[in-house]
Amino acid sequence: MAQAKKLFIRTYGCQMNVYDSERMAEALGASGYVATERPEDADMILLNTCHIREKAAEKVYSELGRLKPLKTANPDLKIGVAGCVAQAEGAEIMRRAPLVDLVVGPQTYHRLPAMEAAVRNGARAVDTEFPEEDKFAHLPKGPRASRGPAAFLTVQEGCDKFCAFCVVPYTRGAEASRPAARVLAEARDLVDRGVREITLLGQNVNAYHGEGPDGADWSLARLIDTLARIDGLARIRFTTSHPNDMRDDLIEAFASQPKLMPYLHLPVQSGSDRILKRMNRKHTAESYVAIIDRLRAARPDLALSGDFIVGFPGETDADFEDTLALVRRVGYGQAYSFKYSARPGTPAAERRDTVADAVASERLARLQALLTEQQRAAQDAMVGCCVSVLFEKPGRMPGQMVGKSDHLHAVHVTDPRATPGTIAPVRITASAPNSLAGELL
Ligand code: 5AD
Ligand code: SF4
Repeated sequence: MAQAKKLFIRTYGCQMNVYDSERMAEALGASGYVATERPEDADMILLNTCHIREKAAEKVYSELGRLKPLKTANPDLKIGVAGCVAQAEGAEIMRRAPLVDLVVGPQTYHRLPAMEAAVRNGARAVDTEFPEEDKFAHLPKGPRASRGPAAFLTVQEGCDKFCAFCVVPYTRGAEASRPAARVLAEARDLVDRGVREITLLGQNVNAYHGEGPDGADWSLARLIDTLARIDGLARIRFTTSHPNDMRDDLIEAFASQPKLMPYLHLPVQSGSDRILKRMNRKHTAESYVAIIDRLRAARPDLALSGDFIVGFPGETDADFEDTLALVRRVGYGQAYSFKYSARPGTPAAERRDTVADAVASERLARLQALLTEQQRAAQDAMVGCCVSVLFEKPGRMPGQMVGKSDHLHAVHVTDPRATPGTIAPVRITASAPNSLAGELL
């Protein structure tokens, strides 16, 4: 038998890229590739890239620079660029980086095996189309490997919201939901392979409206309810959501569906209505808070996470103060905050009323200080409490296991009974900056 070819994938950006990288590895598994952790051993290196902010996008060119010596040492090495930078700048990558053999956008991963065969024959290949078919349904599957206890599952992709700062509608295309039957089949397969927690992914996951087996349009709440009937699946999460798609049945699911975890990532971006309008968010700070109030009425222990952008064009000190006020009002368990980054092709990039970088940096530091304080307080409040933990993998200390609480806190336990895949009650004894420690009850 011929020796297996080795594949190294480096993943940047969001969880959807993590999911996509797994699917690409499976697809190339069917072409005889096995994964390697060492780029210097690889026959094929794929960079699965992110275009959301300038810094993320720049990484692809610096990484390609670092790969040059590997290509010189091994002329048979094939290098591919996948993901959102590939989608946005495919032709540019080919021109700027002659060492790249293939460029594949997020909507054409099912064509990767054919592209791989072409580049093996010396061609250079680019595919950044937006075909109609469901790429996941057309992906070849490699050998069925067992899985860790927590997995991602993409159910919806793309976005029609067109927030003025965001490249997603251009890189991931129009919003599309996968049929419920495919999602359910994939979930059952994951559970058969050891998965106990599934995070449903989509850029606008709460706008999910996939075709159900009964021909009706299923909402995300209906999909979650049906997934919850799978024996062995213990926990369900979903991310990322838009406030305007937070429907009644989904809010209600936080009250009625015990497998739906009490954690929600609901980005707001800014606390100023003036800025929200310029961002084309189509909601106000008040309407966002009203949704949070309803969610908390449904599930009082709900932990909230969010995304924030500071320094959007036209943002004044008063606008920024409104963002801080909103953060204080909501109280986040965890959050991500970014300095605005002008992205080519987006409406906001045309604006002239930009905020000075030093001002944006100062605002970011203040916002992050507040968010960190809230995150610490939420974590510290767990000390002495009993939380349910799904153990995932060994920790750094001997005998230690790490898992996630239902609020998505990392929890360390040193106990031989804490094996990967078990869910057990843990009494929290200590809170460190980014994790908790506890004892199995
Ligand atoms: N600049 C800064 N942050 C951005 N995000 C999206 N586009 C930009 C941009 N141009 C942030 C938003 C979004 C998260 C995924 O990334 O907060 O919710
Ligand atoms: Fe981007 Fe807005 Fe769509 Fe989120 S909702 S992916 S921020 S355009």
